[in-house]
Amino acid sequence: MAAYALLLASILFSCLCGSSYGFILFSSLQKTLLVTASPRPGQVLKAGVDNITVSWGVNQTLPAGTDAAYKTIKVKLCYAPVSQTDRAWRKTEDNLSKDKTCQFAIVSRPYTSTNNNQSFTWTVERDVPTATYFVRAYAYNSDGAEVAYGQSTDAHKTTNLFEIQAITGRHVSLDIASVCFSAFSVLALFGFFMNEKRKAKRTRGK
Ligand SMILES: *[C@@H]1O[C@H](CO)[C@@H](O)[C@H](O)[C@H]1NC(C)=O
Ligand SMILES: *[C@@H]1O[C@H](CO)[C@@H](O)[C@H](O)[C@H]1NC(C)=O
Ligand SMILES: *[C@@H]1O[C@H](CO)[C@@H](O)[C@H](O)[C@H]1NC(C)=O
Ligand SMILES: *[C@@H]1O[C@H](CO)[C@@H](O)[C@H](O)[C@H]1NC(C)=O
Repeated sequence: MAAYALLLASILFSCLCGSSYGFILFSSLQKTLLVTASPRPGQVLKAGVDNITVSWGVNQTLPAGTDAAYKTIKVKLCYAPVSQTDRAWRKTEDNLSKDKTCQFAIVSRPYTSTNNNQSFTWTVERDVPTATYFVRAYAYNSDGAEVAYGQSTDAHKTTNLFEIQAITGRHVSLDIASVCFSAFSVLALFGFFMNEKRKAKRTRGK
């Protein structure tokens, strides 16, 4: 039974929390990057067809050396749920190892302070589900830990949001639900198996 409880805990854990073990809090990151994305506010883009041009650079009014530790920039496409109040699981999880709102990698580039304003044009991937999005860039240090970020929307994710329409009609909530679904079906199967094993033992004992 202890093994079952352990499995239950670990499946729940991996379902809710993801599988990486970094302990960096989003709220501890410095917001030093300026990030812009080409879609107009409210623009509807087609997955697999339309392009997003993202540009990023460090805020030049900050003291020199602010970016001394920045080694890599990773730009990501992030969900911005229209209603955040009843969908806590779609907010940025403060513990970044658990965050699932920025699942689509747009580009990863070495950080160069000399050519501060970098940009990249990305054709929206075909498997991006229908949802409202913005773009966020993270700066990583030489240990591969997030140290700073910037995003194309405000802190409350209300400005400059754009929409992506999937080709297949896939939707974000279904995606996340199906991950949990499969975890729970494994769980249910395991429960069934343990139960059968116990029954079998009891039968043999008689
Ligand atoms: C962040 O999440 C990891 C993995 O779920 C956990 O081990 C760690 O304690 C969490 N850290 C904080 C500060 O919440
Ligand atoms: C997106 O960019 C690709 C590659 O540069 C180009 O072939 C395509 O026409 C662009 N799509 C649109 C809708 O502008
Ligand atoms: C980078 O340069 C482009 C073109 O001048 C500008 O539109 C964009 O806002 C700049 N981005 C940043 C983050 O400074
Ligand atoms: C850039 O940094 C300055 C100084 O900290 C700050 O006042 C300003 O709001 C920042 N700009 C943006 C667009 O975040």
